[in-house]
Amino acid sequence: MRIAVLSETDGAETRVSATPETVKKYKGLGADVVVQAGAGAKAGIPDADFEAAGASIAGTAGEALKDADIVLKVRRPAEGELKGAKPGALVIAIMDPYGQDAALKALADAQVSAFSMELMPRITRAQVMDVLSSQANLAGYRAVIDASAEYGKAFPMMMTAAGTVPAARIFVMGAGVAGLQAIATARRLGAVVTATDVRPAAKEQVESLGAKFVAVEDEEFKQAETAGGYAKEMSAEYRAKQAELVASHIAKQDIVITTALIPGRPAPKLVSRAMVESMKPGSVIVDLAVERGGNCELAQPGQVVEHNGVKIVGHLNVPGRLAATASSLYAKNLYAFVETLVDKETKALAVKWDDELVKATCLTRDGAIVHTAFQPTA
Ligand code: NAI
Repeated sequence: MRIAVLSETDGAETRVSATPETVKKYKGLGADVVVQAGAGAKAGIPDADFEAAGASIAGTAGEALKDADIVLKVRRPAEGELKGAKPGALVIAIMDPYGQDAALKALADAQVSAFSMELMPRITRAQVMDVLSSQANLAGYRAVIDASAEYGKAFPMMMTAAGTVPAARIFVMGAGVAGLQAIATARRLGAVVTATDVRPAAKEQVESLGAKFVAVEDEEFKQAETAGGYAKEMSAEYRAKQAELVASHIAKQDIVITTALIPGRPAPKLVSRAMVESMKPGSVIVDLAVERGGNCELAQPGQVVEHNGVKIVGHLNVPGRLAATASSLYAKNLYAFVETLVDKETKALAVKWDDELVKATCLTRDGAIVHTAFQPTA
């Protein structure tokens, strides 16, 4: 069994899909691991460290791919990137499959079995494989650090001989994995933190972190969580009530961190231009949803823009801003999944195609798109 670890072709991607630690574990499973030269460079992992862990280094992607049974990546391979891959090879990555019909067809045409890690079911057995959680947690932390870097004042209250510095007021919108970590981080830095979400379960979690919960808690709110634990898209009526409540709250905040997402849908627009204009100059908004359309109307992907003295931070790939930590957790998520695809006795690939983790994540197989949620419509 041969496992290939490819370099990322997207220049903005800093993470890598394996670490020396996971290479050793793959070796323990009986696999040969081939790492493309330079794959770990942006995450601070030199080729020599992969070699010391037992991997061999391939000069090109083509060489790494040759005869590989499993191909590991962070992002979905671009068209042509899998040229030379063995038919039936398992390609495992964060595939970002929604609205990507042409890309999914290209994966099917490449005759590989493509697996999308972000579709992993959120069940106990798969927690260790949950890339959305491992990466969102880091994004939530980093959002607060990025906010503090842009903010011209201190976060904690300080009583000094020269006078008292008030604590920063931070509002976190969306209290899922990223939002809860943002709350915890902001609290550790001494800010006064409030947070909102549309799922009732979030209230207790927010309060347990020492933040105040702010939300329209009507009948719709009580039903807003899906069986999978995600938010539903809210009605226009709810959104109007939510906007009214949020508008008066935001005007009093120094920092707003938005993390609100609805799986498979564009991010809900929560912070309007008028709300930005109600904030004091020097305030900062960090929009973690910018890659999915943004929660803030004025956020620009990949940019820090200023509007009336308010900075709106729209960094892309925020987990990648902590490349080493993000890679280490992502690589462990991948290893935990790959382990389930291998027969420990024969040390060979043994995919159980009817296993719920496989069914939930497998996008393509034998030249076709097999996932029910991504069937071509035409
Ligand atoms: P997410 O990344 O899809 O969304 C982030 C947050 O935005 C969610 O909390 C969502 O409710 C919120 N949101 C959506 N629309 C909103 C709106 N209009 N206004 C305000 N907030 C809005 O969610 P994430 O972070 O993946 O977590 C969702 C839930 O899944 C959480 O309860 C989390 O604790 C749970 N979870 C369960 C796991 C497990 O059981 N294995 C693993 C990880 C998370």
